[in-house]
Amino acid sequence: MTDTVATLTIGDKTFEFPVLSGSMGPDVIDIRSLYAKTGMFTYDPGFTSTAACDSTITFIDGDQGELMYRGYPIDQLAEHSNYLEVCYLLLYGELPTPEQMADFEQRVTRHTMVHEQMHYFYRGFRRDAHPMAIVCGVVGAMAAFYHDSTDISDDMQREIASIRMVAKIPTIVAMAYKYSIGQPFVYPRNDLNFASNFLRMCFSVPPEEYVVDPVVAHALDLIFTLHADHEQNASTSTVRLAGSSDANPFACIAAGVACLWGPAHGGANEAALDMLREIGTPDHIPEFIARAKDKNDPFRLMGFGHRVYKSYDPRATVMQKTAKEVLDLLGVKNNPTLQVAQELEKIALSDPYFIERKLYPNVDFYSGIILDAIGFPTSMFTAIFALSRTVGWIAQWKEMIADPQKKIGRPRQLYNGAPTRDYEPIGNRWDRT
Ligand code: ACO
Repeated sequence: MTDTVATLTIGDKTFEFPVLSGSMGPDVIDIRSLYAKTGMFTYDPGFTSTAACDSTITFIDGDQGELMYRGYPIDQLAEHSNYLEVCYLLLYGELPTPEQMADFEQRVTRHTMVHEQMHYFYRGFRRDAHPMAIVCGVVGAMAAFYHDSTDISDDMQREIASIRMVAKIPTIVAMAYKYSIGQPFVYPRNDLNFASNFLRMCFSVPPEEYVVDPVVAHALDLIFTLHADHEQNASTSTVRLAGSSDANPFACIAAGVACLWGPAHGGANEAALDMLREIGTPDHIPEFIARAKDKNDPFRLMGFGHRVYKSYDPRATVMQKTAKEVLDLLGVKNNPTLQVAQELEKIALSDPYFIERKLYPNVDFYSGIILDAIGFPTSMFTAIFALSRTVGWIAQWKEMIADPQKKIGRPRQLYNGAPTRDYEPIGNRWDRT
């Protein structure tokens, strides 16, 4: 709370509301008493001016292009940390000591297998099902398999559910991939690190041993780290809203997966690579830029723009550098998709349309190029994003459940439908068209 008070005048009446300050970022006007005092609601479709909760997990300064997990800048974490350590940081608030890290790693690796019965569950899906459709269904179905961690009022059950989600999501995503290409499921191996284990579950086949390339494993670990959390974005808010009704954690994460799937959110990485391929060669770029600027054309440059970042997305900076490194190290020379991406970025960033609207490449612009070079089909991109974000969703869900101010999320509306009217028997109705 600050000493500042926000004053609202409606007609001849004046109302005061407290102004709250966080540790960083803009102050907020506390309008919780607005309806009681004025009989009015606020109107903010898309929540462009609304802080829906207070949180200690992730901070974004969209104007400066800054992202921090628990206060640590993302570029430092990308350079010095790894995904599992970042998971610990997001879940427990501090970087772990060596003992805490060893214990956490052991807890995660002991939960990587999924219930054997879930294998049959996969077989109910069509082979050509999108991996996100499968992941959404299987994550929701976890509530049917792990009854002993669905009581959200029990601290220990919440903790076990969190570890289970972080540990099993790579297995669930890899199984969705294996199922879609008609190969046998590969069981997790606990002697491999998080990213290497996921690569092996995706690319190993029974006839020969799969040797994990450490360069590839590091690039994938970086993708996981950069996607691990992102404040109150659409899917995280969906998880919080689902959790606000005290729904079990698996149902809440399934809701997050569903929301992430949309092309305006996590689905953008798949859409961005499809777009870069459709552009094909740099000489086609002007045509696509013209379409993106045409108000009568719904086309948008996928992987460009962000609700919060009005400066370069800091994750895109790391991703761009990594894409170049990975392609070099994998010996991919003159990758046409990377060439189109670099040229498109250059042209877009010098175009007044994009400059005026502060549209910069976002994290999804370059991540698809790396995932493609590793060998993942585009349909897997959003599922890999969901894998990475699961820890963020869980951390935010845990924070909300532990918050003494938690209330069921229940937005209101500006009603613009028919005013009160009387029911007419069917025989008295006439065609109104
Ligand atoms: N290409 C062309 N024009 C764009 C783009 C784009 N990618 N993004 C925004 N604009 C334009 C809009 O047409 C609008 O123009 P106008 O003011 O003349 O009407 C202006 O920029 C503002 O756009 P909004 O849609 O109001 O911005 P909003 O904050 O609601 O949307 C969003 C952000 C959804 C990310 C948007 O930029 C977009 O659709 N981008 C492409 C999809 C994408 O890459 N999504 C991934 C986001 S990152 C993530 O989820 C991990």
